[in-house]
Amino acid sequence: MGSGALCRHPRRYKLSPLSASAEIRVLTTPQELFEEAAEETIRLAAEAVSARGRFTVALSGGSTPKGLFNLLATNGRATLPWDRTFFFWGDERHVPPTDSDSNYRMANETLLSKVPVPPGNVFRIAAENPDAAAAAAAYEQTLRKFFETDAPAVPRFDLILLGMGPDGHTASLFPGTAGLQEKSRLVIANWVEKLKAYRLSFTFPVLNAARNVDFLVGGTDKASVLRSVLEDDGAGEPYPAKLVRPNDGRLIWFLDRAAASGLSAAAK
Ligand code: 6PG
Repeated sequence: MGSGALCRHPRRYKLSPLSASAEIRVLTTPQELFEEAAEETIRLAAEAVSARGRFTVALSGGSTPKGLFNLLATNGRATLPWDRTFFFWGDERHVPPTDSDSNYRMANETLLSKVPVPPGNVFRIAAENPDAAAAAAAYEQTLRKFFETDAPAVPRFDLILLGMGPDGHTASLFPGTAGLQEKSRLVIANWVEKLKAYRLSFTFPVLNAARNVDFLVGGTDKASVLRSVLEDDGAGEPYPAKLVRPNDGRLIWFLDRAAASGLSAAAK
């Protein structure tokens, strides 16, 4: 995938002693980060389809994944098993799918509208519903029906893509919000005071039940929080991104050098 495949040398290291199954890959540039993440996505898709006949993936929003989606829509177009791939969202802004803030709209414009994925394989969050709690409950039912899991069982995604904000939030689980405490629901309407808005978001039970969780994080504005998330065992309230620890799954942090600039020498 892409011209840089052979010359990329991601610096990989384990998050010992925190978790044996977590890995950090530091790439020199954002483009190399996207290439590495795209290669991993394609590898996981092939693995999932051969093991279970389908690949279930939850997309993240924000700006960082655009580079990955563009690559999957171009270089990966011939490689991903689109008819066996099922798309969900880990979070969504409380807006219609036509809104410029919509995570669905971003993914549709940069990926889904450009690849032969059957429309029935795309499960967006109906965030146009003015009742955010009802939208969250409806999406939880969508997950339970698709994965055929009754409460309290938790659906197990093959891959959940995540980003991290400069405040340490991930999906739409922001510091100091009620959503951080949710232990049983799969999807919540999380009120975010600083945004004066609800966000629809997967909860930690879903994030930590996944087979694979891949964080894509770039830029110096995230470096100091990232150091705290990945290296600090300090006291105090952990950043939400630090609470993503798959129970029985693989966790990979794809970082560009700018985002990794605050990490200990070993990682840079
Ligand atoms: C969202 C996201 C959110 C995102 C981070 C990072 O809806 O905004 O899902 O969790 O991943 O805010 O966003 P950037 O990639 O734009 O920095």
